[in-house]
Amino acid sequence: MEETLKQLAYQIVEQISRVVKKEAKKNFYKLGKTIGIGADGSPTSYIDKVAEDVALAILEKSAVKANLLSEEKGFVDFGGTSVFVLDPVDGTRNAYRGIPFYSVSLAIGTSKISDIEYGIVKNIPTGDVFTAEKHQGAFLNNTRIRVCEMPSAEMLSSISLGKNYTLRAGTLSKKGNIRSFGSASLEMCMVALSALDFYFVGRDILRVVDIAAATLIVREAGGVVKTITGENLDMDFDLVGRTSVLAGCSEKLIRDLLLKA
Ligand code: IPD
Ligand code: CA
Repeated sequence: MEETLKQLAYQIVEQISRVVKKEAKKNFYKLGKTIGIGADGSPTSYIDKVAEDVALAILEKSAVKANLLSEEKGFVDFGGTSVFVLDPVDGTRNAYRGIPFYSVSLAIGTSKISDIEYGIVKNIPTGDVFTAEKHQGAFLNNTRIRVCEMPSAEMLSSISLGKNYTLRAGTLSKKGNIRSFGSASLEMCMVALSALDFYFVGRDILRVVDIAAATLIVREAGGVVKTITGENLDMDFDLVGRTSVLAGCSEKLIRDLLLKA
């Protein structure tokens, strides 16, 4: 992966993070205001738009060319060959409710998750930066991270419940302790870090922008990312596709979970 592209990606992530933090201090009660409908058909909040505009402004001016697929704006051709798959704020609801667990997520690839070469997920409130490069491993703040060697004695997981509840989610929630944090990219990074044994979303609701970078991060940390039908997760770079996710520390764990679910 070209250094210049990685630097550009990093610059976007840092700048979005700075601006979002500033907005969270200055304009907290405006963050969740709906100001339109995004290219994926879901409402755009004030903070999503402010964050995405940062990326658009940088890419427009940049001498290094890269195209953009972003949650609100959709695909923008800047004359590059690589595509930056961006979720400007993943965990928007956490951001506007004041729950300090939301990220900016950016992956670099060409057309689908399996060709992604580089990914960054930055936890905006804490400043922690997860990165991965294909065949080079996964890192938290430049220190190598790995998934757990085997499931913990007492399993800890994050499972999407609420309106996305499925029977499978109900069954899996009886395995050990569950959490549900509200930012898919960061929850997957928790699996990469071995803070969680697995992360489960049982319905086709996640978009490529939510999970592109985190999928590479989990896989480079030695973990496995599947759908609930047990296939390796892959998605095209568009805002149409939706997927379920079962991300965990090993093939065996995923197989066991799918059998039990
Ligand atoms: C959402 C978060 C959330 C997941 C939702 C996503 P957004 O992303 O990742 O954890 O359950 O399905 O839409 O809307 O905050 O970017
Ligand atoms: Ca988002």
